[in-house]
Formats: sequence, structure tokens, C-alpha cells
Amino acid sequence: MKRFLLLVSLALVLVPAAAQKKAKKYSHETVAIPQVERQVISIETQNTSLVLLVHPNGHLETVHYGGKLAQPQQFLQQSVNTEDYNGFRGATYPATGGRYINEPALHVKYADGSHNTELYYTGHQVTKRDGCTTTVIGLKDYVTALEVKLVYDAYAKEDVIVEHTEILNGGKQPVQLLNYASSSLYIDADEYLLTHFYGAWATDMQMESEVLGHDMKVIESRRGTQNTQGNNPSFLLSLDTKEFSETRGEVIAGALAWSGNFRLSFEKDDAHRLNILAGISPHASAYPLKAGATFVTPEMIYTFSADGAGGASRNLHRWARQYSVYGGGEVNPTLLNSWEGAYFTFTTETLLRMMDDAAGMGLEMFVLDDGWFGNNYPRNNDDAGLGDWEVNVSKLPEGIDYLAKHAHDKGLKFGIWIEPEMVNPRSDLAHAHPEWVVQSPGREIYQGRNQWVLDLSNPAVEDFVFGIFDRTMQLAPNIDYIKWDCNRVVQSFGSTYLGTEQDRFYVEYTQGLYNVMRRIREKYPKVIVQCCSSGGGRVDYGALRYCNEVWTSDNTDGLSRVFMQYATTMIYPACIMGSHVSTVPNHQTGNVTPLKFRFDIACAGRLGLELQPKYFSEQDRATVDRCIASYKQYRDLVFTGDLYRLASPFDGSYYGLMYVSPDKKRAVVYTYCIHFEPRTVGGKVFRLQGLDPGLNYKVVEQNVDRSCWWGNGQSFQGDFLMGGGFNPVLYGLYSSAVFVLEAE
Ligand code: DGJ
Repeated sequence: MKRFLLLVSLALVLVPAAAQKKAKKYSHETVAIPQVERQVISIETQNTSLVLLVHPNGHLETVHYGGKLAQPQQFLQQSVNTEDYNGFRGATYPATGGRYINEPALHVKYADGSHNTELYYTGHQVTKRDGCTTTVIGLKDYVTALEVKLVYDAYAKEDVIVEHTEILNGGKQPVQLLNYASSSLYIDADEYLLTHFYGAWATDMQMESEVLGHDMKVIESRRGTQNTQGNNPSFLLSLDTKEFSETRGEVIAGALAWSGNFRLSFEKDDAHRLNILAGISPHASAYPLKAGATFVTPEMIYTFSADGAGGASRNLHRWARQYSVYGGGEVNPTLLNSWEGAYFTFTTETLLRMMDDAAGMGLEMFVLDDGWFGNNYPRNNDDAGLGDWEVNVSKLPEGIDYLAKHAHDKGLKFGIWIEPEMVNPRSDLAHAHPEWVVQSPGREIYQGRNQWVLDLSNPAVEDFVFGIFDRTMQLAPNIDYIKWDCNRVVQSFGSTYLGTEQDRFYVEYTQGLYNVMRRIREKYPKVIVQCCSSGGGRVDYGALRYCNEVWTSDNTDGLSRVFMQYATTMIYPACIMGSHVSTVPNHQTGNVTPLKFRFDIACAGRLGLELQPKYFSEQDRATVDRCIASYKQYRDLVFTGDLYRLASPFDGSYYGLMYVSPDKKRAVVYTYCIHFEPRTVGGKVFRLQGLDPGLNYKVVEQNVDRSCWWGNGQSFQGDFLMGGGFNPVLYGLYSSAVFVLEAE
């Protein structure tokens, strides 16, 4: 023993001073975890509560999200032990570090290489403005100077809670954010049925449901652009059930307002609690946060309904029309778009004739799609011209001004297509600014649809893209509508501007896009903007903050649209849904459906036509004129009414939906047969919803001489129509019927 002590003291004498200091650093001295007052924070809307519990050790726990609790303070009476070996139970914003070992909302790597963050509660404030209460909760790591603010906007009437997070590096060294979710939500239920949306070009917004198991379910996009053409950053979660129901049960719906790479994860912990994380995808995006800088995450939108998926959708729709969609709730014009009718091949004459036809049919706008620009590299097909946004003088020698004037003289609005984020290698722009193209040094710059992506993480490119919009608006006085397209994803990502900070690329591309959109809206508040990305590649609440509508899909087949429109309106209001009647055989699927069926589908969104009207027969033209005129009578219901889905196309033979005016005095009902088995037809019962049970409604079928319902033209009480009395005979595949209901 004596010998051992001698060796130790000898060693201490021999160890240099610096190493002794180091030894001290690795002592077990720790910073004390601050103690705080135990309290409940209840974030409330008219019918819902999100309840958070602050524990004495500063841990913030989510204890309830669902129906409104009258006494949330009673959570103070429950046992205080929230800690277990796997981390703190129900952490409201879990960070990598300390006891937490599940998927984190926040993961920070500090300048010294360490990865631990343990957030404790520092305080909160509540402020109110019209219809919305904001709660800001402060959290701080108890060792470093990393701070987090959780910001919740609770919209009372709509039962929507919108959350975002602000992450402040209060230290003196930069840090890296490896995960930086907008929101984390712990839920406790016996079963979780997740409904989410996936797709591909011309197959946008497909819907599937699955019961969540114990592994982690991730819904992600790493596409850079066109982020919603695969998965959509949104979901419905039905609680305590394995079956999707339109009308029954508790449902949480969520949607992330972000047009860039995103990630939603659903992880069950060992107590079967589910944590939902939503935010920017951390893929290749370890975000560098300088000393003193704050990172603000995109918003995550939540709603809860005890009335099934339909209730959740209606909450989102009401909120979106009021607070989120640009120009939400306003009626957008019916239109004729030139794409499927003329593609790249047109002259001034072609377009003038189309405008004349559009005006004759009672449409309200003409939209000139792709093909109008490029001179050195004329845009005669998709392999040249993108980037060179001057009018093609051989196709349109009289200019855009001339076309717009013709439209306006005919009483039509005028719209035009641009794809400002892209460049064809065969263009003047690609030669003038090779450094603006998304690229990684020395690597192939892959083409998609013969084009490259411009690097919107570069402010010079932001200016250029803004300039394209700005100059297009100057091509004619009073351009009414811009269709903003974006036809490929990012590959071999990289920016000549970002140098060694390529980790910022994906985030700053999207922020650059929003900077441009913000400038556009400051200068052009009135222009209607359609957000298109090879169809539905940018259908998200981030883009919709600046855009009035989306191009739902490049697939215009009425049957395909049934499924896409059904799924789109699970999350997004019908007012955003550009929906066009095209020719048959359909250009994407080859399917042949009757003209009236195509109209009856398109009339459930913002109606447009996308075909060459001169080919209509006299009989078809009469149907067209009639359908357009009737749509204009009831379309305010599509734009502002409450949606009730009456039959799911996934259930087999029939699809049905209706929009009801907020005062319940008017409604429009759409019914379709999408699979016909003659022996089963004796009139399909659609139980209407959302009507006033005591009011009498006159029911009139639209656009037919002989109705398919025995009660057409008569009046019926709301409870009869909702109770099973409404049974139109949809006899035959693709038969369809639209009814307008007016209270007497
Ligand atoms: C893709 C869009 O989705 C179409 O509607 C059309 O605008 C083409 N691009 C034009 O190139």
C-alpha cells in the first residue's frame, strides 16, 4: 500500500501542470439544474386544449392534446415522477442529451464537439390579438447558452394551433444544428391510425392509412424542389381506432408550412406514447448557427376534432381560408389554359381564337402557358429557352401586350406562365451565368426535363428570379394571373455561392424562394398566383402563404382526379384546387370519360378548361356553356363553404361530397359512379351532412333535362336529406350528378 501511495505522489510530481489542469476539468463537478415552480400551461381554442406541465426540475411535459379540458390545473395533482431511464416522459421539445435517447426535436453540436442539450423551462408569456392567442415559452440548456422559444398561436374559432420554434445561440462560439424540428407532440392513445399522402408525377396526392407499430414511421422529402410530388408534409392521425372514419372519432391533423425538404416522424416509446416530430429534413443540412444568431423554424399547423377526419379537414379549411392561403376565401376566375390545347405550337392567331372561344363559353380568364419566350434559343419544345424571358418574336410578333389587350377587350382576364427557378443549358442565361446553376464542383450537372435548377440560396439569383416576375408583369398593363411552374428536383446539390457551407443549401434555397415571393407580394398584392410544380409538386401551406391556388396535378383525367381531389381536400381547402376539363382520350392516361363527368369533377374545385375549344361539337359546346354557367351560380360554396365528404372513392363504387354555406342555407352536392355493377343499383343513398335539420331545402339537379333523382325540383327537410332520403340513380360507369340546395 505504502509503495502504491509513493508511486501516485511521484506521478503527480512528474505530470506537467497543463495535464493536471486537464485532470481538474474532468472532475465530477456539475452545474446545478435550476429548480422552477410547478405549473400548468394550457393553450386553448374553443373546443381543444394543449396542456403542458412544468415540473420542478424545469422539465416541460406535454400531458394532453385533444378535447377542451375545463380544469387543466388538475394535472398538478398527478405524481411528479416524470423521469425514467429512457428520458423524460412526454418532453414538449426533446433534445439530444441528458437522459433523452429517442428521436430528438433538437440536436445541437457545440464548438467543443459535445452533443448534449438539456432544456429547462425559464418562463412564458401570453398575448392576445383578434381571434388568436400567442403563448411563447422560454427554454434554456442548463449548461450552455443555447436557448429555445416555443411559440404557439391558438386560433380559437377554427380550433387550430400553429407552432414554431426559435433557436438562439447565446454562446460565443458557433454551433451546428443537426436536428431542428418545428414541433414535437406527444400523444397517448391505444391505437394510432396514420393517414398520409404520397405520389409521383401525374399521380399526385394519393392517400394511404396504416396502423402504427413500434418502429419509427418517417415521411420525408429530400427533393430540394417539388417537395410534395412524392410525400406531402401533412397527415391525419385517428386515435384509438384501426379504421379511418369520415364522421366519427378523435382525429389530429397536421401540416407543415414549408416548401423545402421536410421530415415528419412518428415514434412510439416503450409506454406506447407516440411522439410526432415535424420540421425541416436534417438531410445534408447540419445548419451552422453563428454566435448570437437565431434560427426560426417553419410553422407546424395542428388541429383536433372529435368528429372524424371530416371535422379535422373543415377546421383546417376554415383556418386556411382566413389566415393562411393568399387571398383565401376569394373567388378565383374560371379560365382557359393554353397548355393541353396548344402545347408549344401556336401563333398569335391560335391564341386569339382560343380567347374568343373562352369568352363565348362564359369563361373569365385566358392563361398563356409555356412556349411564348426565347429567341436565340426559342422555346419550341422543352429543351431550350428557359432563362431567356423575352417574347419570342417569330411566334408572337405583336407581343404579349397585344394578346392581353384582346383578352381584356373580350372581358377576359389575362394570365401567363413562367418557370423562373430553372434554366435550359440551351439558353443565353446558362452561358452568361454558369455560376448560378445548382452544382457540385467537378461533378456532372444532371438534367431533368432538359433543364438545370438555379441556385436560390444565392441572393444574386433571388434578384434575378424576382426580376423575371417583375419584367413579365410589365409585358402588358394589368396582367391578372401568373402561373409559377417548377419542373424538376434538385440533384448533385451544391452552390458556388455557399463555398464550404454547403450544409445551408437546402434550407436557404427555400428561404430564398420565400424572399422572392415576399417581394412579389409587396409589389403585386393583387395578381393571382398559381403555384404549379409539374402539377402538385408544391402543395403546402408555406407556398400557399403567397399563392392563391395550386395546379393540383398534370393528370387531368376525371377518374384520376377523383382520388387526387379527395385526398387534397383532406388537408387543403377546395379554393386552392385548380381543376381543369381536358379532352379525351385523356393525354396522360388515355382514359375516355364523358364530358359531363369531367365537368362535374372539375366543378368541385376552381373550374378551368385545358383543351382546344374549336374541336367541340355543337352538342358538346352546349353542355360546356351550360356547365360553366351553372358553376358560376354556386361556386361561392366551393370557395367559402364547409366540405363534407359523403362517400369515399376507396370504398368501391361511388364518390360524393358537398359544400355547405356557413349559414347552412345553401349547398351543392356532387355524386359520381366510378365502378358500376348493375345489379346493385336501385339508387345510391348518400346521407347528406352539415345541413340544418329543421330547414326545408329545394333540391335542383344541374345541367340535365331529366334528373336522376325522383325528388328533383321538390323541397325536403334537412333531417330527411341527412337521414337517408337522398338516393340518386347513378346508372352506369362515369354517370354523375350535381345538385344545388337552397333553403326556403
Ligand atoms: C408542367 C405543368 O404542370 C403544366 O401544366 C404545364 O404548365 C407544363 N409544365 C409546361 O411546360
